[in-house]
Amino acid sequence: MQFDPLSLDFQLNPYPYYDQLRQASPILYHQDWDLWFFTTFDDVNTLLRDRRLGRTMDHIISREERGLPPPSPEYAPFRKLGEHSMFDKEPPDHTRLRSLVHKVFTPRRVENLRQQIQQIANDLLDKVQPNGEMDILEDFSTPLPVTVIGELLGVPPEDRHLLRPWSQDIVAMYELNHTPEQAQRAVKAAIDFSDYLRQLANNRRQHPQDDLITALALVEEAGDQLSEDELISTCVLLLNAGHEATVNVVGNGLLALFHHPEQFALLKSNPQLIKTAIEELMRYDTPLQLFRRWVLEDMEYKGHHFKQGMQFGLMFGAANRDPARFVNANSLDITREDNPHISFGGGVHYCLGAPLARLELEIAFETLLRRMPNMQLKGGEPEFRPTYVIRGLKALPVTF
Ligand code: HEM
Repeated sequence: MQFDPLSLDFQLNPYPYYDQLRQASPILYHQDWDLWFFTTFDDVNTLLRDRRLGRTMDHIISREERGLPPPSPEYAPFRKLGEHSMFDKEPPDHTRLRSLVHKVFTPRRVENLRQQIQQIANDLLDKVQPNGEMDILEDFSTPLPVTVIGELLGVPPEDRHLLRPWSQDIVAMYELNHTPEQAQRAVKAAIDFSDYLRQLANNRRQHPQDDLITALALVEEAGDQLSEDELISTCVLLLNAGHEATVNVVGNGLLALFHHPEQFALLKSNPQLIKTAIEELMRYDTPLQLFRRWVLEDMEYKGHHFKQGMQFGLMFGAANRDPARFVNANSLDITREDNPHISFGGGVHYCLGAPLARLELEIAFETLLRRMPNMQLKGGEPEFRPTYVIRGLKALPVTF
C-alpha cells in the first residue's frame, strides 16, 4: 500500500490511513523516506523495548564508518544539544544522564507543584473570563505548561516569553519535512537558548535557589556530575518536551470531547472520571505521532531481516488505535479502564515527565470544565496544523 506522510489529507486525519495500513501492510518500507513503518500495537510496543534498536547509533559506529559525509558545521550548535541530551543517547551514557536528572526531578518535586499549577490555571482563566470567549491554545493550553516548566526550572517571569519561540524553532526539526530555513532558525534558537541557560546556570551556581536549574547544576551521584553542556541540553530538553505535547493534549482532547457531546456531558457530570478521561484522550488523538529508531545490529523480526543502520518509524497514533489491543479502538470512551496506550513511549526512553504531564492535564481539564461548563466551539471546524510528528490544532476558539 502507498501512503504519503506529507500529504495534507494524511496529516489532517491520519487515522483512516492507519486502519488501512495496519490491515494491508503492518510492516511497510517507504522508499522516499527510507523508513520501515510499523503500525500495530504489538510491534510498536515490542520494538520500543527492543535493545537491538536505539534513538542513535553513534555510540556503536561513527558516521565516517557508515560511509556518511561529515555533518555540516553550519548545524553544529543544534547538533550539540542532541549530543549531550539523554534523549539522543543510549545506555550506558543514557542511563548515567537519566539517573542524574531523575535524582532531582522527583515525583515529590512534581507533586509539590500542584498548588502552583492550579494558581497558574486560575490566573489564565481569570484573564479571559470577562470576555466570554477565548482561544484555548493561545490563552490557556500553551501558556499553562510553558509557565509551569519555566517556574519549575527557575526561568525568571520576565524571560518566559522567550521560551516558546525557542522551543518551537527547535522542535520543528523533528518533522519529516523540515526546510533549510527551519534548520537555520533551529540553529539560531539553539545558540540563543544555550547562551541564555549558560548564564542562568552560572548565576545559580553562585546564588543557589530552590529551583530545578540549581538542583541540576549541583546534583552529584557517586562523585559524578552533569557537565555544563549536559546541563544546558537537559534544560532545553525539559523545556521542549515539557510543554510541546501537553499543549496539544488539551487542544486535541477538547476537540474530541466537542465531537462526542455525550462523552463531554458524562465527564462534566462525573468529574471523578478525569483520570481515565485524560488517558483516553491521549490514546484517541495521540499528540506525538511518530518516533524513529536505528537498527543497531543486523536482526530478524517477524520474518523480516533488517540490517544495521536501517531506520524504523514507530507510528504511535496507529498503535493506539489498533483493534487487536483496544476494544472499539476508533471510539472515544472516557471510562475505558483497559488502556495501555503508548503516548508516553516505553522502554528506556519512557517519558521522564509523565507524572508532571498527568498532573498538568488533570488540573487543566478539571479547571476548564468546572469554571466553563457551557463551553462551545466558536465558528467552524478548527484546523489542524499541517505537521505530522507533533499533532495539534492551529487554534481552538470557544465561547463560554
Ligand atoms: C502529554 C505530554 C507528554 C507526552 C505525550 C510525552 C511523550 C513522550 C514520549 C513518547 C517520549 C519518548 C520518546 C521516544 O521513545 O523516542 C518522551 C520522552 C521524554 N519526555 Fe515526555 N511527554 C510529555 C510530557 C513531558 C513533560 C511534561 C516532560 C518534562 C517536564 C517530559 C520530558 C521528557 C523527557 C526528558 C524525555 C526523554 C526521556 C529519555 O530519553 O530517557 N515530557 N516523552
